[in-house]
Amino acid sequence: MKWKNKVVIVTGAAQGIGKALALAYGEQEARVVVADLHIEACEVVADAICRDGGQAVSVATDVRQIQAIENLIQQATEAFGTVDIMINNAGIGRWKSPYELSMEDWSDVIATNLTGTFLCAREAAKVMKAHKHGGSIINIASTRAIMSEPNSEAYAAAKGGIVALTHALAVSLGSDSIRVNCISPGWIETGDYEALRVVDHEQHPAGRVGRVSDIVKACFYLTDADNDFVTGTNLVVDGGMTRRMIYEE
Ligand code: NAI
Repeated sequence: MKWKNKVVIVTGAAQGIGKALALAYGEQEARVVVADLHIEACEVVADAICRDGGQAVSVATDVRQIQAIENLIQQATEAFGTVDIMINNAGIGRWKSPYELSMEDWSDVIATNLTGTFLCAREAAKVMKAHKHGGSIINIASTRAIMSEPNSEAYAAAKGGIVALTHALAVSLGSDSIRVNCISPGWIETGDYEALRVVDHEQHPAGRVGRVSDIVKACFYLTDADNDFVTGTNLVVDGGMTRRMIYEE
C-alpha cells in the first residue's frame, strides 16, 4: 500500500468528491483527517473509515478562518504526528449575474476557494518542512478556471487563482521537497449518476460524465511518491470537454 500510514488531510470531506477522497485514502490504509464545516457528516465519514479497519479523525473546520486552519493542522499532528498530504477540496459557488453579485458573495467565494486553499497549503507546508520529510499538496481547481458559462465570475476567478497559486507554491516549496499540483475536474456527478441523460454523457469526447472515482485516481497519481517529477501542474480531468470545439449548426 503506497499510502499506508501517510497522514492525509482532506477539506470539504463531508460529501461529494472530498468524501470519496477521504474514503479512498482510508482504504489505502492512510491516516485520514476529515475536515469540513459540517462536523456530524465528517464523523460519519471518519467512522466509516475506522469501521473498515482504517484510521481517521474528523475536525470541524471553516477554511475561511485562519484560526480554524491552524487548529486543523494542530489536531492532525496531535492525532497522527505529522502531515504528508494536504488536499484542498472545500469549495463553493455563487451563480449570479455580475450585475447582482454582492461584495459578500464575491468575498465568500474568494475566501473559501482561494484564500482557504492558500492558507491550508501554507500551514500544512510548515509541518512538512519542519519534519523534513516533504509532502504533496493537491488543490482542487476546475475547468471553469479556463472556460465559462454566464454568471460564474467569482467561482471562475477563484479557480483561476488556484491554478496560478499552484505553480507559484510549487516553485517556492520545491526546495523543501513539497510538490504542489492542482486538478481541474470537469463535470463530476456527485448525485444520482443513473439519472443522467444520454446527451449528458454523449457530449463528452470520453463518452460519459465524470465520477468521483476519476478524481480519486488523479489524486493517487499526483500523490504517488514515484511521480516525484510532477509538480506545478494542472491535471485536467474532464472527459475531453475543454478540448471540444462547439459551433451551432
Ligand atoms: P460539494 O458542494 O458536494 O462539497 C463541498 C464541500 O465543501 C461540502 O461538504 C461543504 O460543506 C464544504 N465546504 C464549503 N465551504 C467550506 C468551508 N468554508 N470550510 C470547510 N468546508 C467547506 O462539492 P463537490 O462537487 O464535491 O466539489 C468538491 C470540489 O471540487 C470543490 O472545490 C468544487 O469547486 C470542485 N469541482 C467540482 C466539480 C463537480 O462537477 N462536482 C467540477 C469542478 C470542480
